[in-house]
Amino acid sequence: MRRLEERDDRSEFRSGDLALDLFFARYAGQNQFRLGIGTTYVAADGARLAGYMTVAGAAIFASELPSTLRKRFPSYPLPALRIARLAVHREAQNRGVGAALLRHACALANWQARDVGCIGIVVDAKQGANRFYERFGFLALPVEAGALDVRPEPQPMFLPMGRIPAG
Ligand SMILES: CC(C)(COP(=O)(O)OP(=O)(O)OC[C@H]1O[C@@H](n2cnc3c(N)ncnc32)[C@H](O)[C@@H]1OP(=O)(O)O)[C@@H](O)C(=O)NCCC(=O)NCCS
Repeated sequence: MRRLEERDDRSEFRSGDLALDLFFARYAGQNQFRLGIGTTYVAADGARLAGYMTVAGAAIFASELPSTLRKRFPSYPLPALRIARLAVHREAQNRGVGAALLRHACALANWQARDVGCIGIVVDAKQGANRFYERFGFLALPVEAGALDVRPEPQPMFLPMGRIPAG
């Protein structure tokens, strides 16, 4: 697992989700190298990119959390780690690459919690991927119907630090 490099060829990446492939080819590089608004990590086997995950800092309000966690926190915006995009190349799916990317997200959240502050990992799971995140302990967050400007609507999910093994 390593950070995306400018020389990586992202044009041939095919996950089966066109939007995720386009993001990787067109925007992951500029977001990281020019704008500094998100960092992409790749599972690489030499020059071949088996999967990628883009992360960014996020803020979440206690009122957005499951009721069991809500009371623990103050009412101002709380720091979290966002998985902004995650995809595995079609030919590498079902071989543990997605799980390895999530383990890396957990390592980053542990680092962020220790050095910056972090209450957990948030992700807007695409339809069909929510079960993948549930396997790793992510909880579905309550969301108002029609609140997200994406169709089909993703499911916001949250993995609290308490469910992340210490790094
Ligand atoms: C969803 C995705 C990231 C999973 O990556 P992957 O490398 O194929 O998954 P892994 O091999 O690491 O699987 C880890 C576990 O999750 C399970 N799993 C994988 N995809 C799943 C899914 N869609 N639903 C339920 N479980 C899933 C696997 O069976 C495995 O379980 P096990 O540990 O009991 O064997 C990948 O299929 C993908 O890129 N899909 C298209 C893009 C996408 O949907 N991205 C998510 C955007 S939010």
